[in-house]
Amino acid sequence: SINLSGRDFIEMSDYSTEEIEYLIDLAIEIKHKQKSGEEYQPLKGKTVGLIFEKSSTRTRVSFEVGTYQLGGHALFLSKNDIQLGRGESIADTAGVMSRYLDGIMIRTFGHDKVVDLARYATIPVINGLSDLAHPCQVLADFQTIYEHKGTLKGLKLAYIGDGNNMAHSLMIGGAKLGVHVSIACPEGYEPDAQIVADSQEMAKATGAKIEVVRDPKVAVQDADVIYTDVWASMGFEEEQKARELAFADYQVNEELAKHAKSDYLFMHCLPAHRGEEVSEGVIDNSTHSIIFDQAENRLHAQKALMVALLG
Ligand code: CP
Ligand code: NVA
Repeated sequence: SINLSGRDFIEMSDYSTEEIEYLIDLAIEIKHKQKSGEEYQPLKGKTVGLIFEKSSTRTRVSFEVGTYQLGGHALFLSKNDIQLGRGESIADTAGVMSRYLDGIMIRTFGHDKVVDLARYATIPVINGLSDLAHPCQVLADFQTIYEHKGTLKGLKLAYIGDGNNMAHSLMIGGAKLGVHVSIACPEGYEPDAQIVADSQEMAKATGAKIEVVRDPKVAVQDADVIYTDVWASMGFEEEQKARELAFADYQVNEELAKHAKSDYLFMHCLPAHRGEEVSEGVIDNSTHSIIFDQAENRLHAQKALMVALLG
């Protein structure tokens, strides 16, 4: 049987296919419990710290609400309010937090910070987004796809746009779960070459095909899911104008979506910019777009994660 107690959650690659499937099943079970009003408080008496060095709507609210629903308590720790923002080291922060808390979620810039926090902390550390990875989002996303399609293995997900944290975690998640992932990005905005190679290696075990292409139509061809994300991620705001030019041919719109399967799902981690990475017609089309199901599942998937790691 699967026991994830005490583990960190830094990237999907740290977990086996079976462990990720277990977390998705647990998320669905916990979602049903919540919808049916069943009392479920395995984190009673436990406290989770949420460190934010970047903005957040979904991650903050879903972690705070999720912890509360599980009977625990969450502390919002903005970098402006804790000594980390004034230069206290990650090692000391980790050591101190480990004496008070039962788990830490961190959203930051450099991925190294998440890795270091996990190295020095004696309690589980969850990556709530770094420049390199967004595994909490992708866990919720694959739960969402599974709920809509009834299966994951053999599906094709097309990701159009920036080869960023979302692209990375989607490739790794796809590789682990047997979902083909085709990334289309402009020159100079490719995903990290090492992560592409690692995903392709991991995909051998599940039969998933992980590829990076130039032409969005090629990526979207016969796709079950079309996914996109902002052109300028947090920390890259000053590149907005240059990126608008570079990504001009990478908008997900009705014309591009014609190449996907007729029952394709549209997904976006949010926040979205209508008229940039996605047209209003696609993101607000209630037949295809499942953006709010994704956002909701952040709550359930992270509750599953906290129960498994801290429970
Ligand atoms: N998708 C996501 O992580 O959203 P927030 O930045 O609002 O947390
Ligand atoms: N790629 C985006 C995701 C936001 C949830 C960013 O890093 O800003």
